[in-house]
Amino acid sequence: MDKLVIEGGKPLKGEIEVSGSKNSALPIIAATLLTDEPCVIDNVPKLRDTMTMIKLLRSLGKNVDIGKDKLLITSNGKPNPVAEYKLVSTMRGSFCVLGPLLTKLGQAKVSLPGGCIIGVRPVDLHLKGIAALGAKITIDGGYVIAKARQLKGAHMYLGGTFGSSVLATANVMMAATLAKGETIIESAACEPEIEDLTDFLIAMGAKIKGKGSPRLCITGVKKLKGVNYKIIPDRIEAGTFLLIAAAMKNDQIAIKGASMSHLMALVDKLKEAGIEVYEDKGLIRVKSPKKFKPVSVTTYPYPGFPTDLQAQFMTLMSLVEGISIITDKVYPDRFMHIAELNRMGANIRREGTNAIVQGVDKLFGAPVMASDLRASAALVIAGLAAKGRTEIHRIYHLERGYENIDEKLKGIGAKVYREKE
Ligand code: EPU
Repeated sequence: MDKLVIEGGKPLKGEIEVSGSKNSALPIIAATLLTDEPCVIDNVPKLRDTMTMIKLLRSLGKNVDIGKDKLLITSNGKPNPVAEYKLVSTMRGSFCVLGPLLTKLGQAKVSLPGGCIIGVRPVDLHLKGIAALGAKITIDGGYVIAKARQLKGAHMYLGGTFGSSVLATANVMMAATLAKGETIIESAACEPEIEDLTDFLIAMGAKIKGKGSPRLCITGVKKLKGVNYKIIPDRIEAGTFLLIAAAMKNDQIAIKGASMSHLMALVDKLKEAGIEVYEDKGLIRVKSPKKFKPVSVTTYPYPGFPTDLQAQFMTLMSLVEGISIITDKVYPDRFMHIAELNRMGANIRREGTNAIVQGVDKLFGAPVMASDLRASAALVIAGLAAKGRTEIHRIYHLERGYENIDEKLKGIGAKVYREKE
């Protein structure tokens, strides 16, 4: 296993490019199960999570050829409706093969993913939506077994305690594309990744109205076709790079290939802190004042502030004089990074569902442990901004969602390298 070593405080400069979106790629790869025709998917990031999804797809009856950024996905003529525990348990995103398998094959047996470090993460909304389409669902031996000769369109409400669900919306929308009649999903997730999946399905021949809104209307069709499709840029990777630039008060970093319109909640919070974010010849840059203001943040489903940038924003606030309060309304327990940031000199305490951040002058390098993907990104930002050497252990978490992060950071002058544990 590798660790990531960062010599902090080095001046960074230059362009850093954003890869394709992980959270778009995962359901879009799953959506290819809806057709027997070949699909080419462009801009797929090479990550541990996308590789897991590819392995899963191969086990479900697809051939996947991996090109530079592209995947060519074809059928091998032997569809298999069983998604095994050993693959689904390592990555919750793989649960979204349930909808496509069921609607295409009339049955699906998909392992329940289980909880993870960021929370309990139930799948009740996925099952509620699939059941509303007429599937008979049983749970047996840790697997969801869903059966329906032909799913039937239905009008349903898919909001839960924490608002809409990204992957439940994806699962039900995919299932509805081949159902008989019309499905209306109220309280659908509006994340750009769901819009991307909607565009992909429409390109395959699905009939979907209301793209990007909380009300999706899907009219089932008999068959979907193969397509060539390019995935959107990863807004969370882009936001992480913006927060690196902000935390280092560095106006020399330019982010390439990102979509600023997907980052407005972050841009707005940075503005409140006094940091201007602007576009210049297709690049996104920041302009930092000498002193930032502390800013409180609460995460919500899109277009609210993303939970996937909460940890990284906390690193920034830990370096801003004054007090800020950070609350996660999507994953109220996603605070594993607090203890690690405190090991680097931050002053953060948890009070119930809030993190109270008292800004400090400086962070100092230390050995720290990555607990999940975004917590790792928060530690990378801290390590780059800190004085001295930081060692981030368990970086396989980082490899789940940040393509070539060490190489990309080296490209802008960071002293970052991998070492064997
Ligand atoms: N929830 C339920 N019941 C359900 C589904 C979700 O109560 O059936 C709850 C969750 O426990 C959570 C909230 O609803 O409190 C929102 O969860 P959601 O279902 O939207 O999360 P997800 O679809 O499982 C995706 C991303 C996550 C991201 C969340 C929220 C993928 C592969 N994963 O997960 O990404 O945090 O949406 O935006 O798209 C990450 O990339 O680091 C990551 C964790």
